[in-house]
Amino acid sequence: MTAQRATAGEGGLDDIARLWAERDIKELANPGVRAMPLGTATDWGLSAPSESAIPTISLGGGIPDPATLPRAELLDAMRRALAVSDDGPLRYGGAIGYVPLRAALAERYTRDRGLPVQADHFMLTNGSAGAIETICAALLEPGDVVISEAPTFSGSLRTLRGRGAEIVSVPMDEHGMRTDALEQTMQRLASEHRTVKLIYTIANFHNPMGVCLSLERRQELLRIAAAHRALVLDDDAYGDIYFDAPPPPALSALAGGYGVITVGSFSKVIATGIRVGWVHARPELIELIARMRFDMGNSPLLHHMLYQYLQGGRLDEHLKRMRALYREKLEIIAGSLVELAEPYLAFQRPHGGFFLWVRLRDGLRAAELQQAGAEEAVAFPLGAAFYPDGRDDGEHIRLAYSWTSKDDLRAGAERLARACARVAGDQ
Ligand SMILES: Cc1ncc(COP(=O)(O)O)c(C=O)c1O
Repeated sequence: MTAQRATAGEGGLDDIARLWAERDIKELANPGVRAMPLGTATDWGLSAPSESAIPTISLGGGIPDPATLPRAELLDAMRRALAVSDDGPLRYGGAIGYVPLRAALAERYTRDRGLPVQADHFMLTNGSAGAIETICAALLEPGDVVISEAPTFSGSLRTLRGRGAEIVSVPMDEHGMRTDALEQTMQRLASEHRTVKLIYTIANFHNPMGVCLSLERRQELLRIAAAHRALVLDDDAYGDIYFDAPPPPALSALAGGYGVITVGSFSKVIATGIRVGWVHARPELIELIARMRFDMGNSPLLHHMLYQYLQGGRLDEHLKRMRALYREKLEIIAGSLVELAEPYLAFQRPHGGFFLWVRLRDGLRAAELQQAGAEEAVAFPLGAAFYPDGRDDGEHIRLAYSWTSKDDLRAGAERLARACARVAGDQ
C-alpha cells in the first residue's frame, strides 16, 4: 500500500485531525481535572498582565533571590558527581532515591530537630509538591476528607482536589492553625461518621501568612490528630529560613516520629529549578508511600549533585547568608510600607520565610487595589487565592519579598502606597 492510499478517504489518516478537533478534549479527563480551574501554583496568583508602560515589579514570587543562586558551587558539585567511576548518577535510582543524600538529610534532621532518624525515614521526590502528590496518591481515595488551613498554599489545594479529596478548612490566626476550631471540626465530622485522613498544615513560616504554629498548638494538634487517628502532613518548605531563632520544635519530633509526615525541599533554600524534595516519615510509612511511585524515581544525577553540594557544610553557609538577606529584604519592604502606606494597611512582621500577609484598612478592597497596582506597575496575589473556596474577606493581599531585588522592593512599596491612596480616594 502506498503512503498516499493510506492517508486518503473517509476514516483515513487525513481525518485524524478533524476527528480530534470535533472531540471535546475535556471529556477525556477525570472529574478532578475537569473541575480544576486553569492556572498553576507557579503562576503566583497574579492578576491580568500589567496595564502600565513601565516594567511591572512583581511581589508575587515566593522563590529565592536570583542573585543568590549558588551557580558555581552547583557546577562544581555536578562535576564531582559525574567524576565518579561507576554509572550510578546516570542510571535509574529507584523509587526512594540516593541513599547517601537521604543519609545526609537524616543527619541534618537529627542535628536540627533532636529526634534521631536514618536514611530510611526519607524518600526523595520531585520537590515538596511532588512529595505531597505522591503522599496523596498513596493515601487518598476520592471523597476522603482532608483538613486544610485557610488560608493555605494554593498548589497543595490543587493537588488535594486533583485526588478527589474533600477539603474542610480550619481558620488561622497569628499563632497558626486554630486548634480549637480543629477540635470542633473533627468532632463534627466524627459525629457525621466521616473520617479525616490527613490534616495538612504549614507549621513553619506559613505560606501565605508568614506565621509559625505555636508550641502549645503543636501539642494540641498532635493530640487531636492522634485521638482521631488522622495523619498530620507538615509542609515544611520554609522552616530553615528563620531570621532570629529556629521555629518551635518540629511536629514530627514532638510526636516521636509517629503519625506525622513531613515534606521538605531544596527549592526555597537553594533553587526551585532543582526539583528535589523529600518525604520524611517513619520507615513503614515511607515504604507504603513509595508503593504508589510509578515514575521510576526522580533524577539520580541531581541527587548525586546535591550530595556533593552538601559536603563540607556548604548548605549551612548558604543558609546563613540567606537568613541575613531575607531578614534585610523584609526590613526594606516592611519599613517602606510603614513609612509610606501605614494609613492603608497593617501586617504582622514574620520571623522567617518569604511572605508578608497584609490586611487592608478601612474597607479598602483587595481586588480594587490589585487593579490599581497593575496600573502603577506592581503585581501581587489577592488573599482570596489562598482559600479553599476562593473566598475571603476581600481585604488581604500577599507580598513576597524573597525574589524581588532590594531596589525593587522599595520601589514596589512606593507604587503600592500610590495604588492604596488612589483606591482610598486620597489622590
Ligand atoms: C508551602 C509550600 N509547599 C510546597 C511548595 C512547593 O515547593 P517545591 O515543590 O518547589 O518544593 C511551595 C512553593 O511555593 C510552598 O510554598
